[in-house]
Amino acid sequence: MLQEKIQQYTKEIEAFNPKSADDAEAFRLKFLVTKGIVRNLFEAFKTVPVEEKRVLGKVLNEFKQLAESRYATFQEQFSSASSASKQAQYDLTLPGEGFAVGSRHPLSLVRKEIVEIFKKLGFTVAEGPEIEDDWHNFTALNFPPEHPARDMQDTFFIKKQEGNDIALRTHTSSVQVRMMENGTPPFRSIMPGRVYRNEAISARAHCFFHQVEGLYIDEGVSFADLKQTLYYFVQELFGADTKVRFRPSYFPFTEPSAEMDISCTICKGKGCQLCKQTGWVEILGCGMVDPNVLNNCGIDSTKYSGFAFGMGIERITNLKYEIKDLRLFSENDVRFLSQFDTELI
Ligand code: DAH
Repeated sequence: MLQEKIQQYTKEIEAFNPKSADDAEAFRLKFLVTKGIVRNLFEAFKTVPVEEKRVLGKVLNEFKQLAESRYATFQEQFSSASSASKQAQYDLTLPGEGFAVGSRHPLSLVRKEIVEIFKKLGFTVAEGPEIEDDWHNFTALNFPPEHPARDMQDTFFIKKQEGNDIALRTHTSSVQVRMMENGTPPFRSIMPGRVYRNEAISARAHCFFHQVEGLYIDEGVSFADLKQTLYYFVQELFGADTKVRFRPSYFPFTEPSAEMDISCTICKGKGCQLCKQTGWVEILGCGMVDPNVLNNCGIDSTKYSGFAFGMGIERITNLKYEIKDLRLFSENDVRFLSQFDTELI
């Protein structure tokens, strides 16, 4: 009887306990191949009287599922053993697979380059807080209360408090103040860091970006020192054929003040889209530190003088790498970020 045979094989399958992949294969050959037991039983099923077919068909299908699922379990049981034996065939003398390392952010690369250049001139690196008070961000830097110059920078205020609001710093010039308040001249430092302004985010503006501030204070420092320092910086960063020019400007904390342009890095001064056909692009603001600022910071302005400058790292990076959209710097798309770092970390 077919049903008895099925019961007998069911017992056999349930008791089957393979010890190796070979045993499992023997199971497959016995039960699951074309001429195996499962198929044979299905063949025999064809001759079963119709009235028995309903019940027996169900039993037979369950038997087939049992055989298949047991075999699947055996396969799993021995697959790790078989992969272990495959491992034994690896050639361990071959070099390993490299794994991807990160790359430095283009802004970090350019900041590092700027720092290296100024280090050669004896500048140290200093930092200050990103959350600043009104004194360090504005008042000590000679921005009078209600002076329109304060409107030049739209500020994220954290706390309004009488006489000394707390805000996210709008420029790294605040670090100059901290440095002068807390030390004694001479000062020769650059101060890189993140700054914040309340701007709508677009390809050309962002609510945060990065600056490098510079400060040089000593006895007898002149505008000639300022010019030569910045000229050296530009030659090192953009190449010896880069020209510079200074245009008079205004900042509350410097007098006289200037903006510095360099000959366009793309067209070399011939005129192109980047330089709006002028041949020049602006890269920084600078000037002689206003005596009021020195006095505000406890430095004797009759004895000491000096210069300061401030530049945007994004701006410099855009010029160096021709990046047209500021948002790329903060989107963290590795396809963008991995293009710049040529050294492995
Ligand atoms: N703080 C200015 C800005 O954010 C940049 C600047 C201009 C800094 C002139 C300076 C300076 O130290 O002397 O636009």
